[in-house]
Amino acid sequence: MADLSTVVDGLKLPNPLVIASGPPGTNANVIGKAFDEGWGAVICKTVSLDASKVVNVQPRYGRLRTAGSQEIIGWENIELISDRGFDLWIDEFKQLKDKYPDRVLIASIMEEYRKDAWIEIVERCQAAGVDAFECNFSCPHGLPERKMGSAMGENPEILEEVCKWVMSAARVPVWAKMTPNVTHIEDPSRAALRAGVQGIAAINTIRSVIGVDLETLRPEPNVEGYTTPGGYSSKAVMPIALRMCMEVAKTIRDEFPGRTLSGIGGVESGNDAAQFILLGCHTVQVCTYVMKVGYRCVREMLDELSAFMDRHQFKSIDDFRGHSLQYFTTHYDLVRRQAEARAAKAGPATKQTATPEKEVVKADHQWSGDDFVKQSDALARG
Ligand SMILES: Cc1cc2nc3c(=O)[nH]c(=O)nc-3n(C[C@H](O)[C@H](O)[C@H](O)COP(=O)(O)O)c2cc1C
Repeated sequence: MADLSTVVDGLKLPNPLVIASGPPGTNANVIGKAFDEGWGAVICKTVSLDASKVVNVQPRYGRLRTAGSQEIIGWENIELISDRGFDLWIDEFKQLKDKYPDRVLIASIMEEYRKDAWIEIVERCQAAGVDAFECNFSCPHGLPERKMGSAMGENPEILEEVCKWVMSAARVPVWAKMTPNVTHIEDPSRAALRAGVQGIAAINTIRSVIGVDLETLRPEPNVEGYTTPGGYSSKAVMPIALRMCMEVAKTIRDEFPGRTLSGIGGVESGNDAAQFILLGCHTVQVCTYVMKVGYRCVREMLDELSAFMDRHQFKSIDDFRGHSLQYFTTHYDLVRRQAEARAAKAGPATKQTATPEKEVVKADHQWSGDDFVKQSDALARG
């Protein structure tokens, strides 16, 4: 039976599945429920020193469903960080650490571009007993108007400076949460790692417009007839999150060995989590799926992760973390490898005969009508 427990930056987690910052970590009550259900750690909804500046609207979510089964595959939100008072949060951090002394509670924090504000928020949260920090440099809506969130995360220079402020005060591990709304996620990740953070978390939501209502002609979510671009999450973002985690994991492996990565984006199952770990993640966070089905899903997810590990005889998370990174190469190299593989398969005598792929897939100039539907399917199957 696989051992799912893991130690990340000195934090002891019963398993690598973590509640991501968002509605499932919105107060002590629900955070306690997440611990009770067996989540490996919880990151609270992002807190700031002055919640009076945080004013939310309703509706603030929009959902994308598949045509047939109406399954929710994409989710946009224009929700801000926590609008609950900072003093209340400090009390709740203390209560949670009293009740769950052995469980890992991570404070997600965000502040304006002022050194004293970042130092104050770090010092007060850690005095309340939180086990680690996740700095939210990545919320794509609302806060950037105040130069917070992704406005910082998109600017490596500012990010490095702010991370240095945080590191000067923090006595517990710090993760920097990255925005995907950049061309090369390695650049801000490097800046945070240069400043000394223990880990990177990726990704936050992707800037999006979820759709336009064809009756009212108004984009959604419709707030008094208007909207603003929001952040996209849920199942549909997982391929983008996997790519970005792969890029950060390679950066950590090659330039910052020993630092850690927390993968986020579209995770809905133990098999999804296994893929993030195979690409180098130490922990895997879940937000929208918990909003869809509740905290109990962790049990099934852990069973599935455990079954995956047993199938491959992996005894621990360390046994397979980053295993699949070695299989990324350049397109040029793929062409070379395929030519070699085909030549080897054909053998010297039959080298000139058509390969199996050629028999199924026609050359582009031979396509006619809807032929490309069949061709596309064949090209996906390989
Ligand atoms: C409604 C909602 C609110 C969120 N609030 C926060 C937040 O306060 N701080 C933060 O760092 N991320 C926040 N996120 C982003 C999630 O933590 C996560 O990075 C993102 O949703 C991708 O993961 P998922 O597909 O599992 O939801 C929020 C996401 C959603 C859907």
